[in-house]
Parts: sequence; C-alpha cells; structure tokens
Amino acid sequence: MDTAVALNPRAADVPESREPLLEVSDFSLRRGQAVVLDGVNLALQPGETLGLIGESGAGKSTLAMALIGLLRAPEVQLEGSLCFRGTELTRLREADYRRLRGNKIGLIFQDATAALNPCFTVGEQIAEPLKRHLGLSKWDRRERAAELMHSVGIPEPRLRLDAYPHELSGGMQQRVMIAIALACNPELLLADEPTSALDVTIQAQIMELILDRVRELNSSAIFVLHDLALGAQVCDRIAVMYAGQIVEEGPSERVLASPLHPYTRGLKSCVVELGSRRLEPIPGQIPPLDAMPAGCRFAPRCPKAKAICGEQRPQAEIRDGRQVACWFID
Ligand SMILES: Nc1ncnc2c1ncn2[C@@H]1O[C@H](COP(=O)(O)OP(=O)(O)OP(=O)(O)O)[C@@H](O)[C@H]1O
Ligand SMILES: [Mg+2]
Repeated sequence: MDTAVALNPRAADVPESREPLLEVSDFSLRRGQAVVLDGVNLALQPGETLGLIGESGAGKSTLAMALIGLLRAPEVQLEGSLCFRGTELTRLREADYRRLRGNKIGLIFQDATAALNPCFTVGEQIAEPLKRHLGLSKWDRRERAAELMHSVGIPEPRLRLDAYPHELSGGMQQRVMIAIALACNPELLLADEPTSALDVTIQAQIMELILDRVRELNSSAIFVLHDLALGAQVCDRIAVMYAGQIVEEGPSERVLASPLHPYTRGLKSCVVELGSRRLEPIPGQIPPLDAMPAGCRFAPRCPKAKAICGEQRPQAEIRDGRQVACWFID
C-alpha cells in the first residue's frame, strides 16, 4: 500500500496521566474450548490513536467486534474487563450497547459493499444514526447528511443523497461508511482494515481522510491493520497481536525503531524495502485454535525459543515504556 500518509502530529502531545477512555484488562474470549483472545491488556487515552497489527487470524477483528458488543454470550464466553468511559461493557445490556454503538463508538468495516444496506439510499443510511441517537428532525437530518457527505469528500452531496449504494464506486461507498461512522462525533472510532478492499491508488487518500476527521473531532481510534510500518506512521501507539495475545504494545516510534519481541522484529523485516524488494516473511503460521502451545504461542516459530517458551506463558513486562511478553526480551 502507498504509505504516503502524513505523520501523526499529535504523537508527542498526548499526555500520559489522564483517565483512559478505553481500558481492556485481562480480557479473554472463548469460542467453546478455543481461546481466541487470551489475556489482552490495552489502554487508550482520549484523543489517542492505536494501530492493532498482526497477521491473518491473530484475533484483531474478534477484539474489535467484542468491543462493540457484537460478540457476546452465549455465542462466545468473555472474561476480564472492557471499560469505556468508566462503563463496564461486558455487563452492558444490549439496549444500552445500542445507545453507544454508532454514537459514542463509531465503526468502519473493511467492506462497504457488505456493510451498507442495498435497499436504502445513502442519505437515509447516514441520517439513521442522526435520528436514533441525536433525535434530529427529518429536515435537519437531510441537511446534516449532506454536510457529512461533503466532509468526507463526496462531490455534489445533495445530488447523491438519494443514490443507492450500488450507484457509487467502492471508494465513494467507503466514504459513505466513514460519514455514517462519524455522524454522531464518536469518542472512539474502530476501523477494521478500512482501506484493504479498495484500489491501492485510493487507499492512502481514504486513510488520510479518516485520520483528518479523527483529529478534527479529537476522537480516539483503533485502526486494525496488517502493515506495521503504516500503523507506526499514522498511529500514536502500536499493539502487536499474535494468536490472540498482545505480544508488544507501546509508542509507535519506539516499537518500530527498536522492536523488543521477536515477532515484532519478524514483522518489521517483512516490510518490503522499495528498491531492493527484500521480503523476509516469518516462516510458519499461527497454530490452529485447538492446538495452541501451552507456553508462548509464538514459540514454535520463534528463532530465539528455548525450553521454557514452550512450557510457560510469559507474562507481559513493562520495558522501555511498553509492554512486552517474552521470556528473552534482551
Ligand atoms: N465466526 C467464527 N467462528 C469460529 N471461529 C472464528 C470465527 N471468526 C473468527 N474465528 C477464528 O478466530 C481467530 C481470530 O480471527 P479474527 O478474524 O479475529 O482474526 P484477524 O486478526 O481479524 O484476521 P484477518 O487479518 O484475516 O482479518 C481465527 O482463528 C479465526 O479462525
Ligand atoms: Mg480481521
């Protein structure tokens, strides 16, 4: 992907000691016997952006879906805590979740075609959260929907209010989804691979658009991404996820400049160096959920693994201002 996206200018300004907007503590999610998320810890300050990075099957979308309350008992079993603005999300009733979702917490999915309803005009779909959460009148909703379409770079928004999703290009549909996600000025935006279904030529534009809008609203955001370098470039913090666990989390510059976990190091060397086209994939793949190693889940692929790694799970330690879960950090 074209990574010509502006560096986040706020990275250095975010104070460390405020009450977190979101705090994920010892959070685990099981599907029957399979432990899909295992002891996840994360904190996000107001206005901060986090890149959640990891290869396919790491559990990134599962964490995002759990955060917005779309994965709940009895479909899955949850343990630990998801605390948003002091409210424990895991104990929230569905009716209360509906008041948060699309309002205080906005969502952008990977595939707009699947997320937008083909039977309603884009104007109606952008107006829906304005009616549900803000109680705006029909006239005000239409006005605001046109403003929102303009703010996400949709030309001639008044003409397009009455268009159906199939009448718009993929990039325009993604812009509509961004307008819906940001309609109620959410305090937290979850964007699950927001550009990966788009042409590479417009990926950077859409990423830039989301970042600009998030900064304007001073919202916090979690971007689920595959690309460590892009994540570090656009987010204040990076959380690297492997097989349902956070293996390293901390300020983007530090994680990218001097990764401490062998998996993060492996991801870093996966970055294709333009010119040399050097690509060093990490050999092997994430173990199946029903055959997870008892100790460190990365041990079978880790170049540094010793006997203890296969036997005991390393607890996350704070090193150099970040959390790292590895028996041999040095
Ligand atoms: N509906 C489901 N039923 C059973 N297992 C599932 C389901 N959805 C995901 N999983 C499993 O949960 C694990 C985590 O999947 P998840 O989709 O969260 O990964 P991801 O990091 O988002 O991957 P990707 O980058 O491919 O989107 C995987 O082992 C996956 O097979
Ligand atoms: Mg996913």
